[in-house]
Amino acid sequence: MTQDQLKALVGRAAVDFVPAGAIVGVGTGSTVNHFIDALAQHRDRIAGAVSSSDASSARLRAHGITVLEAGAVERLPVYVDGADEIDHRGCMIKGGGAALTREKIVADLAERFVCIADESKLVQVLGRYPLPVEVIPMAVAQVTRRFAALGGTATLREGVRTDNGQPLLDVRGLAITDPLAMETEVNQWPGVVTVGIFARHRASVCLLGTPQGVRRLDF
Ligand code: 5RP
Repeated sequence: MTQDQLKALVGRAAVDFVPAGAIVGVGTGSTVNHFIDALAQHRDRIAGAVSSSDASSARLRAHGITVLEAGAVERLPVYVDGADEIDHRGCMIKGGGAALTREKIVADLAERFVCIADESKLVQVLGRYPLPVEVIPMAVAQVTRRFAALGGTATLREGVRTDNGQPLLDVRGLAITDPLAMETEVNQWPGVVTVGIFARHRASVCLLGTPQGVRRLDF
């Protein structure tokens, strides 16, 4: 099976985690696009969606699914999103698609985070995938120096601005053995909008696409 077929498998499987009548949190990326396409078949049994990016909002609307503002809801039963890496505790690196800030905001509203990913995303230690960090422009140089002090090399993602209009750094060379500690540390640095470590908002469940079918991990 191709990687995209594995993504489609888990995108379809995640629909079973959406309760009838729910407003569902929807992430961003190629795996989530499969989820949105599968969700469209069930649009009459959901109340709508809160989306983590302009791209996902456009895809949801194109399928006739109502998109609500995050500020209009207090709780979501479930948030479905992909990951760039996930470890055996459900901690993730996210933001490869530059949507990390809104993803964390929507995840924060949700009772349950269902991560959908192909099996290549499961790792022992986070950090082989470059860590995305959304930063206010004035802080880019100082945040780059702070990562260098931790052994990481931060580079600006050329030609990319987030949906919030901010630049992104990608940090290579980090072995993130304690995701919660590093997320907490980087969150304190002035000018950091969002670090793409999801440890406080780790997955509750992960559906991994494998050639043998969907493998479910509960955390
Ligand atoms: C976007 C993300 C995505 O969930 C992550 O990049 C995985 O993407 P894909 O499903 O295309 O592999 O965090 O900001």
